[in-house]
Amino acid sequence: MMQFSSFQTLIFLLALLCGALTQASCLSFSYPEFKNENETDFLWSEKDFRIINDAIQVTIDVSGGPISNQSGRVLYKKKFRLWGDGGRKKASFNSTFNINISNRTDPGAEGLAFILTANETLPENSNGQWLGIVNASSNGSIQARIVAVEFDTSKSYEQDLDDNHVGVDVNSIYSLKQESLTRYGIRLSSGTNYTVTVQYDSQNLTIFISHPTDTGDQMNDQVLSLPLNLTEYLPEKVYVGFSASTGNNTQLNCITSWNFTSSRIEENPNLLWVWIATPAAVVFAFLAGVASYIYWRRHHGKELLEDAYPWLEDEIQSTAMAPKKFELKELQRATSRFNPKNKLGKGGFGTVYKGCLGNKEIAVKRISKNSRQGMQEFIAEVTTIGSLRHKNLVKLIGWCYERQELLIVYELMPNGSLDRFLFGENMLGKEMEEPPLSWERRHNIINGVAQALDYLHNGCEKRVLHRDIKASNIMLDADFTARLGDFGLARTLQQSEVTHHSTKEIAGTPGYMAPETFLTARATVETDVYAFGVLVLEVACGRRPAGNQVEQSNYNNSIVYWLWDLYSRGRVLDAVDSRLDGDTDEDDMVSVLTLGLACCHPDPHQRPSMRTVLKVLTREADPPVLPIERPAFVWPSMPPSFKEDTECDLAGGRLTPFTEIIGR
Ligand SMILES: *[C@@H]1O[C@H](CO)[C@@H](O)[C@H](O)[C@H]1NC(C)=O
Ligand SMILES: *[C@@H]1O[C@H](CO)[C@@H](O)[C@H](O)[C@H]1NC(C)=O
Ligand SMILES: *[C@@H]1O[C@H](CO)[C@@H](O)[C@H](O)[C@H]1NC(C)=O
Ligand SMILES: *[C@@H]1O[C@H](CO)[C@@H](O)[C@H](O)[C@H]1NC(C)=O
Ligand SMILES: *[C@@H]1O[C@H](CO)[C@@H](O)[C@H](O)[C@H]1NC(C)=O
Ligand SMILES: *[C@@H]1O[C@H](CO)[C@@H](O)[C@H](O)[C@H]1NC(C)=O
Ligand SMILES: *[C@@H]1O[C@H](CO)[C@@H](O)[C@H](O)[C@H]1NC(C)=O
Repeated sequence: MMQFSSFQTLIFLLALLCGALTQASCLSFSYPEFKNENETDFLWSEKDFRIINDAIQVTIDVSGGPISNQSGRVLYKKKFRLWGDGGRKKASFNSTFNINISNRTDPGAEGLAFILTANETLPENSNGQWLGIVNASSNGSIQARIVAVEFDTSKSYEQDLDDNHVGVDVNSIYSLKQESLTRYGIRLSSGTNYTVTVQYDSQNLTIFISHPTDTGDQMNDQVLSLPLNLTEYLPEKVYVGFSASTGNNTQLNCITSWNFTSSRIEENPNLLWVWIATPAAVVFAFLAGVASYIYWRRHHGKELLEDAYPWLEDEIQSTAMAPKKFELKELQRATSRFNPKNKLGKGGFGTVYKGCLGNKEIAVKRISKNSRQGMQEFIAEVTTIGSLRHKNLVKLIGWCYERQELLIVYELMPNGSLDRFLFGENMLGKEMEEPPLSWERRHNIINGVAQALDYLHNGCEKRVLHRDIKASNIMLDADFTARLGDFGLARTLQQSEVTHHSTKEIAGTPGYMAPETFLTARATVETDVYAFGVLVLEVACGRRPAGNQVEQSNYNNSIVYWLWDLYSRGRVLDAVDSRLDGDTDEDDMVSVLTLGLACCHPDPHQRPSMRTVLKVLTREADPPVLPIERPAFVWPSMPPSFKEDTECDLAGGRLTPFTEIIGR
């Protein structure tokens, strides 16, 4: 707790310091020319007003669009402080810019202005004579809150001196003071670059224009100066920028360069305190943070993730065929930094990306950081699947744990997951156009999954429960051989630890969960068999197991119930996927459907073992005899009178509760 609060203090003080700094700071920038990359530095009244040919086009000038009767505004994105301390302190500023105005009609119209304003938005109907400064209703109103230096190229009303003048406007288009430029030899709309400097020394506003003379020299004339108390008209912080307009006649209103510097407003004494106190507080907070971190580390060090890391590595590397440990960099490169384009699918615990390691294609599962159980799923998967080798299991290539990223690397399965072939969509919910699988392929897939499960249950050193058999966890390789994947929920049973302790953790996917799961919350060999049975029915019927939330109450809506009903009426073949038209061996089909139903027997003791399932699939045995009516689910069920395959009963009892390989 302690280190957290001092961290917060630190952030707070830093924010305070930054606030104090920005409050005091002046605005200064320089654009010798404008590049498209600079566009984001400005606020544009319309998106289309952009930088073209290294110049800001203040009014729209896109060929094709209307360019007459337009107004536009461009402001520097940050405001600057014009005055402070209740009006006692005033900033001064210098703004130098190049204007370039050229007629598009003869004569052109209307003009361009340098503006200081509090208002980000361009007034409506501010085209024509209004120069984008005000409109008919805001003209002359103190609410307009705008001061402008206009470069007017039209005599649009009586008070206008001529069609070539500079003027200073306050909240109005009618200038406080104006000056014709003709006598300086300046013609604003001639397409010549004129360098204008607007200088405000906190009392007088003065305008200089630098222009070429007849002799070819550059002349810098002060063209207008007037005392002006900007504090009276503008708020403390204002935007600086340009506005322009066109009317019936049009012209190009361009700014080709811009420098701006405003002076710093001296801080008042109260803020001075911040300058002394803040650094002191920052140092204090930092020291407190360091001290509490050391304290925390000493007392909770063992819980730190980094400290769990060597243990994690030992755990993984101790497995029989230790998977390779990858560096985060390698996997980032392989997946183009987890580019969304490389996304293959999304599961409960993370996202799977396609990647390339050398010339080998891989799939990288990135466990999502906000999956609370991410670490446990990761360990379960890497340690279980990492120590297993079977032709019907997805092959684990390696893993990575770095900077909080948990990554698992598999062999890429070119045909993706089974569900997209069965239901015509993948895990991301995208529609897919996959040809239906032939019965032969479906049979092979069922057979492959059965072999994988038999291996997990009976064939390997320790019994492994997969706990999440479902179509989206069955991957298909190039030959459509089934490969069981996603061992995120898998648990290894340790014989020495077989107790009747059970965690009330319901894991798995609705629709694939055996009815007793909801009472016992225990995973067993039989619950895996049940899920396998549901999968068999899905593959044969091309139908999803059930709605999303299959609780015990609506278990009766499941594919199992539906099929058993057909079975009772002797019409089980009606259930077969209609896309398999003609491509069926009916005896085989009935045998598989009966087997699937048997695996979904409500009484777990009546479900066949995977060994038996395999025998039926290879036609060495007949499918188990099923009661014609679906038996009701009764719990607790009676223990079986005999066991079918005692030789495989490693865990010393059916309905074995799982023990977790890591503590919680
Ligand atoms: C404007 O963009 C150009 C090109 O990216 C860049 O070199 C220049 O520094 C930018 N100017 C400012 C003031 O950010
Ligand atoms: C503006 O320019 C004048 C003349 O070069 C200079 O004296 C003044 O300090 C400048 N003001 C700012 C805020 O840069
Ligand atoms: C002037 O601009 C304001 C703000 O954009 C708008 O509400 C108002 O209607 C405009 N007046 C006229 C006459 O267009
Ligand atoms: C545009 O021309 C029309 C007539 O052609 C005139 O009534 C109108 O006032 C002109 N508008 C401006 C902004 O000059
Ligand atoms: C502002 O202008 C007035 C006359 O127009 C002049 O007397 C005064 O000295 C100027 N102020 C400054 C700070 O230059
Ligand atoms: C400028 O205007 C502000 C606000 O109206 C006022 O407080 C201040 O005294 C004025 N300054 C001068 C020099 O007139
Ligand atoms: C510009 O607007 C005026 C009215 O404000 C209209 O009479 C004129 O036709 C418009 N000109 C063009 C070229 O659209």
